[in-house]
Amino acid sequence: MYMAIITVNGNEAPISPAAPHTTVLDFLRERGLTGTKEGCAEGECGACAVLVARPGVNKPTDWVAVNACLVPVAALDGQEVITSEGLATAGASGEPAALHPVQEEMAVRGGSQCGYCTPGFICSMASEYYRPDRCAHPKAEAGAADGTDADSDSEHGPNGFDLHALSGNLCRCTGYRPIRDAAFAVGAPAENDPLAQRREQSPPAPVATAYTRDDRAFLRPGTLSDALRLLRERPDAVVVAGSTDWGVEVNIRSRRADCVVAVDRLPELRELRVESDRVEIGAALTLTEIERRLDGSVPLLAELFPQFASRLIRNSATLGGNLGTGSPIGDSPPVLLALEASLVLADADGEREVPLRDYFTDYRQSVRRPGELIRAVRVPLPLSPVTAFHKIAKRRFDDISSVAVAFALDIEDGTVRKARIGLGGVAATPIRALAAEAALEGEPWTAETVEAAARVLRAQGTPMDDHRASAGYRSAMLGQSLLKMYARTTEAVSS
Ligand code: FES
Ligand code: FES
Repeated sequence: MYMAIITVNGNEAPISPAAPHTTVLDFLRERGLTGTKEGCAEGECGACAVLVARPGVNKPTDWVAVNACLVPVAALDGQEVITSEGLATAGASGEPAALHPVQEEMAVRGGSQCGYCTPGFICSMASEYYRPDRCAHPKAEAGAADGTDADSDSEHGPNGFDLHALSGNLCRCTGYRPIRDAAFAVGAPAENDPLAQRREQSPPAPVATAYTRDDRAFLRPGTLSDALRLLRERPDAVVVAGSTDWGVEVNIRSRRADCVVAVDRLPELRELRVESDRVEIGAALTLTEIERRLDGSVPLLAELFPQFASRLIRNSATLGGNLGTGSPIGDSPPVLLALEASLVLADADGEREVPLRDYFTDYRQSVRRPGELIRAVRVPLPLSPVTAFHKIAKRRFDDISSVAVAFALDIEDGTVRKARIGLGGVAATPIRALAAEAALEGEPWTAETVEAAARVLRAQGTPMDDHRASAGYRSAMLGQSLLKMYARTTEAVSS
């Protein structure tokens, strides 16, 4: 029988006899590692955060924080995990002999009261603590180590700590100020810090996994051709990459798939290439990897990422997954529609390229055939220079949109030469606002044109009333988004 092994806090452990749908969270807690907590079981609270050794962006390995409640433990076959218990240095009796620097700061600055959220915060903080370029942030380089510098960037500490690292962690009793104080107080890792040193070596290689129990299977093919062959044989298989949807289905809806196929470590799905006429983004790169590797070179994507769920989710979620689920309120489709992206779909017979505007066919339906995988997303170059992404939701971060609007405009000599507008949340699928685009193209970029196009935009789609927003509100927000974008562009010109 296949033996799947995971390394937790430096100790190897067999995954068996866990069922294939067992989450990392349940696996760890069964083994007595109860620092990892369950709050929501759907990726929203971060109480379950743990660190996983993953391919790094600036070093061979990054310590990446993920939601243990969403990831199947079989997906970590051959991989290394650190929990909050593993961050402290163990003494002879097994009790912590020394707290990790992040734990120390949380303790001395009063960052924990009931403590339920604390291990999750600690793991998210530790991931940011070990981010290789954290100390290269301008604030950290300025040397303002006491946190009192005049720079008003409230989202970065004087130590370069990016508060977005904690956007997926909720605390219900301490209040966030002492937690932020702790985050902004941590220094650089010591030279002999074993987890800092671990970043210099390669992460564990992906392992082809065939883990079966009780007629259910978790399979990780080793190559793209194996994956495509398998999907042809098992069109019923549930395909996972970051598993952020899978975890919710298992935990909240009690779904138990007979066969789960993981594609997130296939090299062909993990390439990012910038060519003269396009950017090609592998469908299984995580959103954090894309964000850090593009480093702002596609401004509309750079505007999207901070608003896409939380850092914990972005550390696992992929563009392929967001497009594969076909949700009408997914965050990436409006942006990719405005960018005129296309998808490379692969099956055992070969590949085809489908413009994203032709991809969605109905509610959670697409032209993707059984057995087909999204291999990559292609964004044509050059990019339109005037862009904006407006996500209208009840909270600024880590929320589901009521409406999302992305704009990409070419404005030359005061005239709109090209307009592309992607919408989410106003129809059964993400859509292009073709009538509003036509109302802008060829017209002068003036208040009159924009007000007329905003009226057209308000009538696009077929928005519904639901618990998030009324149809009238959704329509109104479409028009407001265009007016807001116009106001920003004219502010930029006049300032
Ligand atoms: Fe809430 Fe995992 S338990 S995010
Ligand atoms: Fe109680 Fe955060 S310390 S929930």
